[in-house]
Amino acid sequence: MDAIILLLPVLFVLLNFVEVCNGGITSSFVRKLYASEDMPLSDFPPPPGYNAPEQVHITQGDLVGRAMIISWVTPLLRHPDYVVYWAAGSKHKKHKAHSSVETYRFYNYSSGHIHHATIKNLAFDTRYFYELGAGNVTRRFSFRTPSKVGPDAPYTFGIIGDLGQTHDSYQTLEHYVSNPKGQGVLFVGDLSYADNHPNHDNVRWDTFGRFIEKCAAYQSWTWTAGNHELDFAPELEEDVPFKPYLHRYHVPYKASQSTSPLWYSIKRASAYIIVLSSYSAYGKYTPQYAWLESELPKVNRAETPWLIVLVHSPWYNSNNYHYMEGETMRVQFESWFVKNKVDVVFAGHVHAYERTERISNINYNITNGMSAPVKDPSAPIYITIGDGGNVEGIADSFTEPPPRYSAFREASFGHAVLEIKNRTHAHYAWHRNQDNNAVVADDVWLHNRYYYPEEEV
Ligand SMILES: *[C@@H]1O[C@H](CO)[C@@H](O)[C@H](O)[C@H]1NC(C)=O
Ligand SMILES: *[C@@H]1O[C@H](CO)[C@@H](O)[C@H](O)[C@H]1NC(C)=O
Ligand SMILES: *[C@@H]1O[C@H](CO)[C@@H](O)[C@H](O)[C@H]1NC(C)=O
Ligand SMILES: *[C@@H]1O[C@H](CO)[C@@H](O)[C@H](O)[C@H]1NC(C)=O
Ligand SMILES: [Fe+2]
Repeated sequence: MDAIILLLPVLFVLLNFVEVCNGGITSSFVRKLYASEDMPLSDFPPPPGYNAPEQVHITQGDLVGRAMIISWVTPLLRHPDYVVYWAAGSKHKKHKAHSSVETYRFYNYSSGHIHHATIKNLAFDTRYFYELGAGNVTRRFSFRTPSKVGPDAPYTFGIIGDLGQTHDSYQTLEHYVSNPKGQGVLFVGDLSYADNHPNHDNVRWDTFGRFIEKCAAYQSWTWTAGNHELDFAPELEEDVPFKPYLHRYHVPYKASQSTSPLWYSIKRASAYIIVLSSYSAYGKYTPQYAWLESELPKVNRAETPWLIVLVHSPWYNSNNYHYMEGETMRVQFESWFVKNKVDVVFAGHVHAYERTERISNINYNITNGMSAPVKDPSAPIYITIGDGGNVEGIADSFTEPPPRYSAFREASFGHAVLEIKNRTHAHYAWHRNQDNNAVVADDVWLHNRYYYPEEEV
């Protein structure tokens, strides 16, 4: 009798969980299967003109969105090494910012001149033009700054992962670009897949830069490092991890007191975005652990209601590919995410799509046997979106039966859009690449964990 009374709360929790989680949907949509191959080099011509600036991309350059890092490559000469920019409607008031210029070698590859110029003191919610190059090879681009950081500042993010440079990658990017709502991209790691080519052919880093330019030169991408950024190749005497990536993609990590560009945070409109590195140490006492421990208390939900985390290797995902690779990081940090009521965690790595219920597994320890994730209204939703369409193909092997925490999963390529409306509501939609169209295959209204911690339906 006593035992039954003691068990009642446990039974209640279990029944409650069974009742609310429907076991999840495994979508029956099957994409047309054909080999993903990187597009031929000839599909990525450099822009015309001698030493024309190429591979242009922009990245938020400070903590709040009033600075932008303009990055580009000049293939032959170091100069011109500046960007000219002006606010729309003020053409007579042009500004100039000089770039820092770097080059690197990788095995027998020599990079072009890689430029990064940070332009500062920008006005919020303002369109800017910028020009690179000089004379008859001047190229002009534009972007819009986000609105001032604040609890009801709406903002629409695109979310893309594991993109690569195949025909599927092309579709994914085209679909995102054709959506006029997207204002900035959260990229969850694995960019060029150059390392799948002989000697990590770094020409593929250049072609990737040209490939994404049509989007990344016009809106800020928030970068996360994946395993394909490691380029760790001691057999080629290339033993400095992340070398090409760190030369080419700069992030404003010092603005969030980080000591490494591999983990950092930014505020953008009403969102606080924390980027973590699955491939850097995160155990207790490590720099990343210490940083995250002091970073989380800085999040002020009254200023930025939406707390979003980007990490490459997913913590919850029920695909046989890369199964449980994110487990050690989950064990390390999950209780912090629940305590701080993270709204959503985006990960890549697994080349399929999956969304979870709000669940946590923080009561488990190695002696109590409580190893099953349970429903937890303070927990984030975990979204795996490593489905950009790279050369490695689709991860089409889900575990069966689906775990109860899985709400929706599908082995297709695509991208997602997160439309933050105000402090309580954000609409999230995953768009699959279906033949030549982007089709919304999974969507949900997210309820903010701080202002409106009601269950999502
Ligand atoms: C650009 O200008 C240079 C001289 O300044 C000239 O030699 C070159 O042919 C021009 N290129 C193009 C594409 O017009
Ligand atoms: C680098 O070496 C490979 C073979 O090891 C060769 O095919 C390639 O052409 C070389 N590239 C350059 C830029 O020398
Ligand atoms: C393990 O979990 C049980 C039940 O939650 C708890 O009583 C026990 O103290 C935990 N053990 C350790 C070492 O924390
Ligand atoms: C927030 O946005 C949602 C969805 O558009 C809307 O239903 C709700 O009324 C908004 N809340 C406020 C306070 O405007
Ligand atoms: Fe990966």
